[in-house]
Parts: sequence; C-alpha cells; structure tokens
Amino acid sequence: MANVVVVGAQWGDEGKGKIVDWLSERADVVVRFQGGHNAGHTLVIGDVTYKLSLLPSGIVRPNKQSVIGNGVVLDPWALLREIETLKGQGVEVGPDNLSIAENVTLILPLHSKLDIAREEALGGAKIGTTGRGIGPAYEDKIGRRAIRAGDLADREMLEERIESMLLHHNALMRGLGSTEITKDEILEPLLEVAPKILPFVRTVWYQLDEARRDGKRILFEGAQGAMLDVDHGTYPFVTSSNTVAGASTVGSGQGAKAANYNLGITKAYTTRVGSGPFPTELEDEIGQKLGERGHEFGTVTGRKRRCGWFDAVMVRQAIKVSGITGIALTKLDVLDGFDELKVCTGYTLDGENIDHFPASITGQAKVEPVYETLEGWSEPTYGARSWADLPATAIKYIRRIEELIEAPVALLSTSPERDDTILVQDPFED
Ligand code: GDP
Ligand code: IMO
Ligand code: MG
Repeated sequence: MANVVVVGAQWGDEGKGKIVDWLSERADVVVRFQGGHNAGHTLVIGDVTYKLSLLPSGIVRPNKQSVIGNGVVLDPWALLREIETLKGQGVEVGPDNLSIAENVTLILPLHSKLDIAREEALGGAKIGTTGRGIGPAYEDKIGRRAIRAGDLADREMLEERIESMLLHHNALMRGLGSTEITKDEILEPLLEVAPKILPFVRTVWYQLDEARRDGKRILFEGAQGAMLDVDHGTYPFVTSSNTVAGASTVGSGQGAKAANYNLGITKAYTTRVGSGPFPTELEDEIGQKLGERGHEFGTVTGRKRRCGWFDAVMVRQAIKVSGITGIALTKLDVLDGFDELKVCTGYTLDGENIDHFPASITGQAKVEPVYETLEGWSEPTYGARSWADLPATAIKYIRRIEELIEAPVALLSTSPERDDTILVQDPFED
C-alpha cells in the first residue's frame, strides 16, 4: 500500500495545500510532520477559501483523520483559533478527526516575543521570520528544556519543566536588560488551555503504525520548502526545521520506509518571502507582473513575495536532497501571455560554471544565473483540466523542465481551484 509525502521544492508557498487537499481524497490519514503556524496553506473549493496554518489540509474533507506529528511546534492558542475559524466555515474538528502527538513541542508566548525581539535586534540583517516563535521553540526542543503537549496532563511535572525552561530564558532576559519571566506567567495560561488541548493528545506513532497495518493510506504534509531547510537551504535565511521529505519519518514516528512516493510541489516560476539569496529574482516589471498575476502575497504575514524565473538548478538540487520521486507543477497559468520565458539552467561563480547551489553564504550571494529562453504561449492554460487543453508551447516548457530537473511531472495545477488539476501519474498507485 502506497503512502505519499508532499514537500515543497523551492522556498515555500508552492501550492502544497491545494495539492494535499486534492490528494487527500485518496488518503485516509493526513499528517503534518514539521514546522508550525509559520505555514500558510490555501485551499479553494468552489466559492469557499480555507486558510490553514497548523491543521493538516485533509481536515476539510469528512471522514479523514488529521494528525499533528511530534516534529511540529504547536502553539496551542493559535491552534484553537484556527479550529474556531474552520468551525465557523462549517468544518467539523474534534478529537474524533484530529490527533496531536503527546511528544509535540509547544510554542509559548515567550517564544514569539523572543523571535520578534531578535529580528528587531538584527535590523538590516534580519531573517524576515514570520515572528511566530518557530526558531526559539525548536531551540528549546533541541536544548531539552521544551514543554511538550503530554506535560499538560501533569501539573507537578509542568511546574518542573517551566522552571528548567526559565533557567535559560531568564539568563537571556537579564542579558538583554529585560524583566524576568515568572513561573506563574507561563503556568497560568497553560493550565487554562490544557483541558482544551488534552482531548486531542494521543500516542501518534502508535496510531499511525496501526493505520498502516490496517492498510490505510497516509499522506504526509510538509510545510515550507527544501531551500528553507535548516541544513540544505539558504542558511541562515531558513526556517528552523528540516523541510525535506526525510523529516516525515522522524516527525511522525514512522520508519524510513513508511512512504513510497515523495511528491515535490514546484511552482512554474520562483517566489520567496523574507530575506536571503535568490539568484533568479526579478526586480523589474516582469517580476511585478508575476507577483500580480500569481497574487503573490503571504498567507500568514501578508508580505509581498519576491518573484523570479524558474530555477531548474535549485529544483534539481531539492529533488536530490529530498529524494523526490515526481513533482506537482503548480501555477502554470500565471505564465499565460508571456512572449518568452527564461529558465535558469546553471550558475557562474567567480567566472566558473557550476551545476549546483553552493552552501557558503558568500557563494550563495554571488552566483549568477545562466538562462535559456523558451517561447511563451498566448492561449490560456488557466483552468485546464486535461493535457489535451494545453498549448503545444506550454507542453514544451513542461517537458524542458522535466529534463532539467531530472524528475517527471506527476500532477499539473492550472488554477487555485481544487478541480483544476491534471493527473499524469497517481503517486498513490506508483
Ligand atoms: P503552500 O504554502 O505551498 O500551501 O502555498 P500557499 O497556499 O501559501 O500559496 C499558493 C497560492 O497559490 C494559494 O493562494 C493558492 O490558492 C494558489 N494556487 C495554488 N495552485 C495554483 C495554480 O495552479 N494556479 C494559480 N493561479 N494559483 C494557485
Ligand atoms: P508554507 O508552508 C514561505 C520563511 C519566512 C522566513 C524564514 C524563517 O506556507 O510554504 P520562520 O518564521 O519559519 O522562522 O521564518 O522562513 N517561511 C516561509 N516562507 N512559506 C512558508 O510556509 C514559510 N514558513 C517560513 O518568511 O524567511
Ligand atoms: Mg504558504
């Protein structure tokens, strides 16, 4: 039985939410395995738009299990707000269809405060984080002082955990000349939120193992993208988790062979939110046109996304480090009406040709893209639901991309709408 991992192959916002929603019709369980409410996944179903940050994108379909795995960092208050919003849109969310791993790390208000304060201190060198406390929460997890969902069930243990966490954070506060945080400031809100979160808390690895043994199909939903991976991305301008497909196993407690197909979600051009290198960025009217046509504004922070040509070198690298089997190419329609399109096929660094993105900060900032120009198309691909509806030049663009990235297009998306999706190769049947 096939299980599928969905990950971003660029800098996030590739359209993972839309594709996970579409694929979840074929799945029984949808699992988030890393990241937190820095993610913003948009689903458009008829005239209803859902914006999800923490909840798996399968939540909007009835009779599917949604799981927040241990690899996520979970802000309990943000989760409850998201659940309320969805309930307001008529979506059922309760312990019957949502589980939270007992070993998931919690994001506390002090984490988002620290995230924002640090960004302010960095000034012009800031990362451009979402300010949601993602980095500080992961630091506490690795530093072995985090509070996890299961701790909410045991007041005595919770108090001990808070004390150990504050030992670190108050040293930081003193260093910054800020007021120290008291135990009660953390404890009281946690005791208040605990009864609302605990009904969802489960032994998730066990639940998923059982589901697999029962022949259920699992869809693992990644957040962010390969170039935001803390190891493989444009460090330090990255998020604080591993975003590659390999993280799906660690972040859910399933073995390395739990999934048979890694689907990389890939935009037909490139975007990025926040600071950091971006070799194919277009700061001209073409970049502006891509942004306008693609409605490139962040779901979480509303920030304008930077736009540029498709970077085949970067996507090929993402495919290799993430072990991507095939891609879902999204937002092809945004390229409708361009006379010509450019695709980056290599870089030069200090006058030398290179075929990969370097790891060094200086190298990443200095690489120059080498472009190949392809013919555009005037007939619309927007809303196309079959391969036969695509103009020949659009097919040529897709074929060239497949060749350059060394992976096939398994799915093609031609609008935000759920059903404007063309299936080429079913990842669940591969
Ligand atoms: P995610 O973070 O990867 O889930 O992506 P986001 O939801 O943040 O951003 C993708 C945006 O593009 C959303 O507004 C989607 O509704 C929209 N979208 C997804 N696929 C397509 C597509 O094929 N064409 C167009 N025009 N928009 C799309
Ligand atoms: P989805 O799942 C795009 C970016 C932020 C910033 C960097 C670090 O919607 O694709 P963080 O708050 O994680 O510490 O910020 O990562 N970033 C994203 N960019 N899409 C996302 O998620 C992102 N999540 C984080 O803009 O540059
Ligand atoms: Mg997004």
